[in-house]
Amino acid sequence: MTQAPVNVTVTGAAGQIGYALLFRIASGQLLGQDTPVKLRLLEIPQAVKAAEGTALELEDCAFPLLAGVDIFDDAKQAFEGVNVALLVGARPRTKGMERGDLLEANGGIFKPQGEAINAGAADDVKVLVVGNPANTNALIAQSHAPDVPAERFTAMTRLDHNRAIAQLAKKLGVAVSDVKKLTIWGNHSATQYPDIFHAEVGGKNAAEAVNDKAWLADEFIPRVAKRGAEIIEARGASSAASAANAAIDHVYDWVNGTPDGDWVSMGIPSDGSYGVPEGIISSFPVTCKNGKYEIVQGLQIDDFSRERIDASVRELTEERDAVKQLGLV
Ligand code: NAD
Ligand code: LMR
Repeated sequence: MTQAPVNVTVTGAAGQIGYALLFRIASGQLLGQDTPVKLRLLEIPQAVKAAEGTALELEDCAFPLLAGVDIFDDAKQAFEGVNVALLVGARPRTKGMERGDLLEANGGIFKPQGEAINAGAADDVKVLVVGNPANTNALIAQSHAPDVPAERFTAMTRLDHNRAIAQLAKKLGVAVSDVKKLTIWGNHSATQYPDIFHAEVGGKNAAEAVNDKAWLADEFIPRVAKRGAEIIEARGASSAASAANAAIDHVYDWVNGTPDGDWVSMGIPSDGSYGVPEGIISSFPVTCKNGKYEIVQGLQIDDFSRERIDASVRELTEERDAVKQLGLV
């Protein structure tokens, strides 16, 4: 092991996603089997003890790639020298809370975290926001980090991407590895649009292979878009292991590249492609190479898709306007 350890900061480290995530990072699944990692865990003061317990368990795994674990309740310290920041901790919606209250409460978390990243992160920092509402939380953090290139702030729609692949593979009776080029557009919310019109299954167009518009509109799209709620209903808690898995996939592909002939979905600051207003953090099809991502260009968008992309993008612009009004961006 000759490489210097990569600093990975995880917020909300004592939460359920944190518990499913940290051991996989420490085992090398986030960055690869040649890359040692140093974990920097950020929690609120009441949860620091639980994070310390997780750190004891990490030690007990004797992971060869784990170069150390530090625990903080101060964002400035936690993001000092960070190379990869996983922003998982967020304020969940509680009873009686309006949407504006939720955005404001999360502004209280993601604004100081954006400032701390701006102040202390390494030059190559990559940020993934998992905590909901992920796209708009990412926008808040990004707008408080003016010295960090905006494209380093991303939001997680990889769980939606993976869910859509699994549902499509099930419908067609094929292996998940046979499904390529699926796209999630828009927000990580029930308005998201899982698009199979450019997807391929065993080299053939997926929409043609399905050939069932009713299934697409009435089953597939709502099932994927509302899968988070389905999991909450079944488990009594939101998805954790699958969310951690998606976070690993997102960062691994961003750092190590996507395979030829395929792409992934990431929430990224729009450059105006596909008519998505510049600056909002919206999900696009992307390929990754040499630690950078690029939006897949030139896809034909028909009326069915346009209407659904526009609806999700409209929700994102409304969220952006709401946080603007609150002075958070
Ligand atoms: P959880 O409640 O189990 O854990 C959240 C943790 O964050 C808690 O330990 C809490 O103490 C901590 N926290 C709160 N404020 C913090 C702050 N300011 N700094 C550091 N830590 C802080 O929740 P979870 O199940 O782990 O989920 C975390 C978030 O991820 C939620 O917002 C959830 O909705 C979201 N989520 C997103 C996706 C996605 O696909 N984007 C999927 C699943 C869950
Ligand atoms: C998910 O998609 O599973 C979560 O974002 C659901 C949630 O509200 O935490």
